Amino acid sequence: MTQATLTSKSATKKPLAKKAPVKKTLVKKAAATKPAATKTAAKKSATGKSVKKSKQVELGDWYDYPQYFDMLFRDETAEEVAFFEKAFAKYANGDIKRLLEPGCGSGRLVAAMARKGYDVTGLDLSPAMLKYLDARIKRGNLSATTVHGDMTQMQFDEKFDAAFCTFNTFRHLLDEKTAIKHLQNVGEVIREGGLYILGFHIIPDDADPECTERWYASHGGTDVKGVLKVIDFNRRKREEMLRVTINAKMRSGKKQRVASEFSLRVYTVPQVKSLFRKISDVWEIAEVFDFDYDIDKTREFDDDLTDALFVLRRR
Ligand SMILES: C[S@@+](CC[C@H](N)C(=O)[O-])C[C@H]1O[C@@H](n2cnc3c(N)ncnc32)[C@H](O)[C@@H]1O
Repeated sequence: MTQATLTSKSATKKPLAKKAPVKKTLVKKAAATKPAATKTAAKKSATGKSVKKSKQVELGDWYDYPQYFDMLFRDETAEEVAFFEKAFAKYANGDIKRLLEPGCGSGRLVAAMARKGYDVTGLDLSPAMLKYLDARIKRGNLSATTVHGDMTQMQFDEKFDAAFCTFNTFRHLLDEKTAIKHLQNVGEVIREGGLYILGFHIIPDDADPECTERWYASHGGTDVKGVLKVIDFNRRKREEMLRVTINAKMRSGKKQRVASEFSLRVYTVPQVKSLFRKISDVWEIAEVFDFDYDIDKTREFDDDLTDALFVLRRR
């Protein structure tokens, strides 16, 4: 299969099961890569005796498989892009032309914004994601810049007008110091009056930490199923450990299974407020929304906010 089939717009994603109450989780983190392991499955033979069959299970970082990530989430892109443009027009001071996406992943948003004529830079830690994005830019005959780097230590010669970071990417920063460093760092590379659109889940104290999400996408003869499970939740450490398992089946019949485990930082509304107070010399909250990405539907920044989408403006 070529990457071209995987980046077409016609993939569909539909939930396989109802989501657990209260908490919605959508996204993931660059986990430490673990070596491939061989799992042995017991199977009955024709004579009824148990025989052992070896089954290869790849344990690793699901961000090393950008094509599957992209297939599963690309149909979220259009409404995010529409929201970004409306937010730029409504909340930024001055024109928005130069854009940055820290933690850009497969670059679904970078490519979409470049296609709209913005001067976009995508930065990510994952070489696999960036390689996929470079190919996407080339294939689409687009103009966009990719940078391999850490979103807490970004340096650019020229400032950006706006940045965006959705899909829980921010929660990959696992402690307060790093989260503050990131917000300050974005502040250093965005001009005054520019915006930072930041979207991530907030998990209230009374939320059920048990959570499983299932995703499905099919395109170009490849079927991809993803399951995200919370396997550990530590309110004191403010971390949840997630396992994402991807099962892909190609047209040829070839199957691939990838299991990935990683942690995300956990926030309650008071914890987000406390964090934002610490960087209030750099960022003001222009408005609060949720994952409906509806510019006409603002949200109160109160304890009911779980799917938070903040429009921050650079002071
Ligand atoms: C959930 S993906 C989101 C990708 C993209 N923002 C999107 O919405 O499709 C998170 C991405 O953040 C990247 N990432 C995690 N920690 C990072 C860091 N400290 N600096 C840069 N990228 C990071 C991962 O490699 C991954 O590609």
